[in-house]
Amino acid sequence: MTEEVFKAQLNPSNFSDFRVGWKSPSNIALVKYWGKKPVQIPANASLSFTLSESCTSTEVQFSLAEASSFDLVFEGKAKPSFHPKIQDFLDRILPYCSFLSAYHLSIETSNSFPHSSGIASSASAMAALALSICSLERELGGLQNEALFFQKASFLSRLGSGSACRSVQGPMMSWGEHPDLENSSDLYGTVFEAELQEVFKSYKDTILLVHKGQKSVSSTAGHDLMKGHIFAASRFEQAQMHLTQLKSVLQNGDLEHFIRIVESEALSLHAMMMSSHPYYILMQPNTLAILHSVMRYRQETKIPVCFTLDAGANVHLLYPESNQTEVQAFIEEELSLFCEQGAYLSDAVGKGSEKIV
Ligand code: PMV
Repeated sequence: MTEEVFKAQLNPSNFSDFRVGWKSPSNIALVKYWGKKPVQIPANASLSFTLSESCTSTEVQFSLAEASSFDLVFEGKAKPSFHPKIQDFLDRILPYCSFLSAYHLSIETSNSFPHSSGIASSASAMAALALSICSLERELGGLQNEALFFQKASFLSRLGSGSACRSVQGPMMSWGEHPDLENSSDLYGTVFEAELQEVFKSYKDTILLVHKGQKSVSSTAGHDLMKGHIFAASRFEQAQMHLTQLKSVLQNGDLEHFIRIVESEALSLHAMMMSSHPYYILMQPNTLAILHSVMRYRQETKIPVCFTLDAGANVHLLYPESNQTEVQAFIEEELSLFCEQGAYLSDAVGKGSEKIV
């Protein structure tokens, strides 16, 4: 499939006013995307759990206008600092949504997780906005096919923030061509279709908030540093191999192997940051303290709890729902002490985005 299929030729005058809203979740990658080619094409395939609690809710009022424009309210207040990112996104998707040039968008958006929690909202935010734009396209007569609707929403989300393309549906989505993933694409995310072992359908993710502030190096800068990185080729190969292995593990329920792959992915991601030029470290001392505690606790109790990291200092603690009681006690008694003001968010694997208006 080429990008051409996503180019909409529709008549905007069919609808002068249209209001729609979508709630989209964040996602946590088990096999990480780190490194890309222009424009937002991943250097390797990735696979993530879609979350259920950490979400962005976005409502958009589309009104016919002389030229494309937008205003934005975030949690009840104007937020000019978000404008450049939204403007870039709208400019980038215009070739695929030319009808947008005839609309003013009034965007109202809010997150379910606290602002400045150190949780990136770009994935959930871009997915909710892309879905809202696809809903308008559907009202105008396009995207009548359900599969194409979600493909395009994921395609547009990707142009806003790469990993956002995995926030459209659940419970797991892959992104990036991979020989073992049927229908996988570099252009959009695809629901992971193999039958998941029961244990993974309700997997828990407790996000331990080690550092609530902005990270010192953005993901965009990090992806860029993979260009010419001395270990880049091996890293991309490793990710492809991990995905092949993870596909089997997700079907056979081998939690020991699951843990080995997931923790290795997290540490490899940070190893890439620490070995780039310039090098940098996003883990904090308390991140490392948590990783050591998790490994020790797992060894002592045999409870299959493991960690993963995104591009920041916070730790995602992953474990089966059946171990929730013991792990909750471990978090309260030990891990929360390493969190900023003891803060953590309780999340779990989710179903994907939901239409709210
Ligand atoms: O989508 P971006 O550009 O914010 O990059 C996301 C990168 C990681 O979160 C570190 C990994 C991933 O696959 O989500």
